[in-house]
Amino acid sequence: MTKKIVLVSGGAGFIGSHVTVELIAAGYNVVVADNFSNCDNTCFEGVKKITGREDIPLEKVDFCDAEAARALFRKYPIDAVIHFAAFKAVGESVAQPLKYYKNNLQSFMNVLEAAQQQGGCQVLFSSSATVYGEPDQVPVTEQSPRKPATSPYGNTKQMCEDILQDTVKASGGRIKGILLRYFNPIGAHPSALIGELPRGVPNNLVPFITQTAIGKRECLSIFGNDYPTPDGTCLRDYIDIVDLAKAHVYAVTRMVEGKMKADCEIFNIGTGRPVSVLELVNAFEKVNGLKLNYKFAPRRSGDVTAIWADPSLANRELGWKATRTVEETLQAAWAWEKHLAGKD
Ligand code: UFG
Repeated sequence: MTKKIVLVSGGAGFIGSHVTVELIAAGYNVVVADNFSNCDNTCFEGVKKITGREDIPLEKVDFCDAEAARALFRKYPIDAVIHFAAFKAVGESVAQPLKYYKNNLQSFMNVLEAAQQQGGCQVLFSSSATVYGEPDQVPVTEQSPRKPATSPYGNTKQMCEDILQDTVKASGGRIKGILLRYFNPIGAHPSALIGELPRGVPNNLVPFITQTAIGKRECLSIFGNDYPTPDGTCLRDYIDIVDLAKAHVYAVTRMVEGKMKADCEIFNIGTGRPVSVLELVNAFEKVNGLKLNYKFAPRRSGDVTAIWADPSLANRELGWKATRTVEETLQAAWAWEKHLAGKD
């Protein structure tokens, strides 16, 4: 059987690079496309080392350019596309909403249009638990209601979900879609050759922790210790990046093998395990044998108190399950930070 071709838009970034590794390991041919607006080639080079493949096609493409998107679909007989190419900083999206609406919506619509013009393909969209907002009940299932987005970034995730669902409906079966709603992806590849590479001051918790531990940041602020949770800090569902990447392989395989039960399916990708900010910090210190400089600070606006996944649908339907412990993941995150600092 000829190998299926998967286009990974935003494939040089944090999640895209881990997904590329797992797709190649599973026997797919991958075309990586990225405009490098939010990353350099560190992770792409890492992917080549991990897979031992020098020949992975890399296309420097900005998907906001409709013709460039079409050209890519003409050049390769793409069976499935995984769409990551998007801006993702919540705070920046509040300050510069048009930048987010223009980029995140336009690029996805161009991908869909190009796919449609080539006769269709399978589309996997990287969505987020942010679409559930502050949930009425935890854990959240795929049936839990979507809440009004609290940022333009979150709004683009909801809008792209709708755009894909409407496009699938109108395509007469030529486009099929899966929406993966990620909880909090953290960690790095066990090789420490790829991982998260935030530009400037990290917004997310784990890169802030590792940068504080390495001495790049003075002190971690834990945003809020007066939440109605057991230790007063927020609860999240931290999902290992390699586990998360594998979920994409299961989802793509389900699509290309025609095993979907509906033309557009939604899956929560999480562990089902709530972990507080303080628990995560303590686990990081313990497993890596170090002390972290941290303090409690006021709540961060827009944060929800507690959210974690009910991943049973993905477990059952995709045959996928998160396997890594928080400790293993935090060890990998620390190894990656040390790799970046050239200290190992
Ligand atoms: N946190 C801190 N200090 C920090 C950074 C984060 O205490 O320096 C806390 C946050 O307050 C939150 C938890 O750590 O309680 C996790 O925060 P992250 O920023 O790592 O993740 P979020 O849960 O806020 O982010 C998730 C997704 C984003 C998405 C966002 C939408 O990872 O992609 O939900 O709300 F945009």
